[in-house]
Amino acid sequence: MQLPGDKSISHRYAMLAAVAEGRTEIDNYSTGADCGSTLECLRAMGVQADRSGNRVVIEGTGPGGLSGPRQPLDAGNSGSTIRMLSGILAGQPFESEIGGDESLSRRPMARIIEPLEQMGISIGAQDGGRPPLKIRGGNPRPIVYNLPVASAQVKTAVLFAGMFANGRTTVHEPLPTRNHSEIALREFEADIQVDGLSISIAGGPRLRGQRLCVPADLSSAAFFIAAGLLLPGSRVTLEGVGLNPTRAALLDVLRGMGADIKIARSSTSHGELVGDIEVRSASGATGPILAGGVIEGATTAGVIDEIPMLAVLGAASRQGLTIRDAAELRVKETDRIATVADNLQRMGVEVEVYDDGMKIAGCQRFQAAKLDSFGDHRIAMAFAVAALFADGPSVIENAEAASVSFPEFYDLLEQIRAPGVSMG
Ligand code: S3P
Repeated sequence: MQLPGDKSISHRYAMLAAVAEGRTEIDNYSTGADCGSTLECLRAMGVQADRSGNRVVIEGTGPGGLSGPRQPLDAGNSGSTIRMLSGILAGQPFESEIGGDESLSRRPMARIIEPLEQMGISIGAQDGGRPPLKIRGGNPRPIVYNLPVASAQVKTAVLFAGMFANGRTTVHEPLPTRNHSEIALREFEADIQVDGLSISIAGGPRLRGQRLCVPADLSSAAFFIAAGLLLPGSRVTLEGVGLNPTRAALLDVLRGMGADIKIARSSTSHGELVGDIEVRSASGATGPILAGGVIEGATTAGVIDEIPMLAVLGAASRQGLTIRDAAELRVKETDRIATVADNLQRMGVEVEVYDDGMKIAGCQRFQAAKLDSFGDHRIAMAFAVAALFADGPSVIENAEAASVSFPEFYDLLEQIRAPGVSMG
C-alpha cells in the first residue's frame, strides 16, 4: 500500500524552496490540506508554486525575494505552517499578519514569539499569545536559545529566522525532536551543524533549489499499522515510509508490546531514512496479543502525534496502556487527552484521565457509538480504525477532518477492511 507524502517534510521543503535560488521539484508532496495552506501562504508572498497531482514545482525567489502579502496569511488548521513560517517572516523586510481557523486561533504561540523577540523582532499577538500574529520582520539578531519545550516547530522557527541573521544562531534542545529541518537545510546547502542536542546555523546561506522526493508519512501509516495489528490474520505492507529515527519511536513502542513489525528495503533518500513496513496481525483466536504497558518521558515526546491511535490499541491490548508526560496533547488541534478519552468512553472503554495523560483499561470491547472528531484529523482517523472493530456500525461526526493530513484515508481504509467487518 502506498501512502501520501510526509506532512512535516513537505512543509519544510516548500518553505525552503521558496527562499532558495532556482527551481525545486518535489515529488510525493503531502496531499493534506495543511501542506496546501503552506503553499497558499507562499503564493501570497509572490512565490510561484505549481502543483500537479503530488508533484509541486516551486520557483525560488532567492534572498530578499519574497514580497509583502497584501492580505493576512491564512495557515488554516496548520500549527506547522504558522510556527515555522513565522521564522521566515521574521527575516523579511516587511510586516505580515498570519492566522488560521478556530482551532489554530486557540493554540499557543508564545513559544515562538519569545525566541523571535529575543532576536529583536517585534510580534503582536492576541491575548495569551494566540494567533493571529503580526510580525514586523527585519534583521534578526543571532541568538543562543535553550528550548523550554521539546518542540521541532519552535526549533525550526528559530533556525529559519537564523538564516536571515548576521552570525550563527544556536538552539539547544532538552530532548531530541524530529530533525527534518536540519536534514532539509543540509540538502538545500545551508551551513548547519549538529552536535548532540545543539544545532547551529550560519546566517546568510544561499540555499539552492533541489529535486526532492518526500517519503510516505509514518504518522499516517500509524492508522494502517494499527488496523493491520487488530485485524485477525492480516498482513499489511506500507511502502516507502519515512523511518527517520527521530520519528520512528512508534515502531519501537509497538514492538515492545509484542507487535510483529519488520522493515524491508531500507535506504536513505535526501538524508531521510525510508523503507517498507510489514505488519502482521497481533490478534489471535484467543484474544489480543499486544501486551500494552506504559508510555512516558522522552518516549511520549517521540510518539506524540500517534497517541490517539496508540490509545485505541491500548484498549485492545491485554494489560491496557498508561500514557504520562503528554500535557502537550492538550494544545494540539484539539485537547487530545479530552477528545481521545471522550470517544473511548463513548465506545464503552474504561479510561482514567490525568492532567498529563490517561490510563486505558485493557481487553476492552469496542461498542458501536456516535463518535466525534471535534474537527481533529488524527481523532477522526484513530476512531475510524476503532469503529472497524466495534460490535455494530458507528458514526463519526466531522469525519472529514481527516483531510487535514490524509484526504485518501477512508478510501484506503475500505481497501484493507476484512470481509465481514463493516466500517462504522
Ligand atoms: C511537527 C512537530 C510536532 C508535531 C506536529 C508536527 C513538525 O509538534 O506534533 O504534528 O513538523 O515539526 P511540536 O513541534 O509542537 O512538538
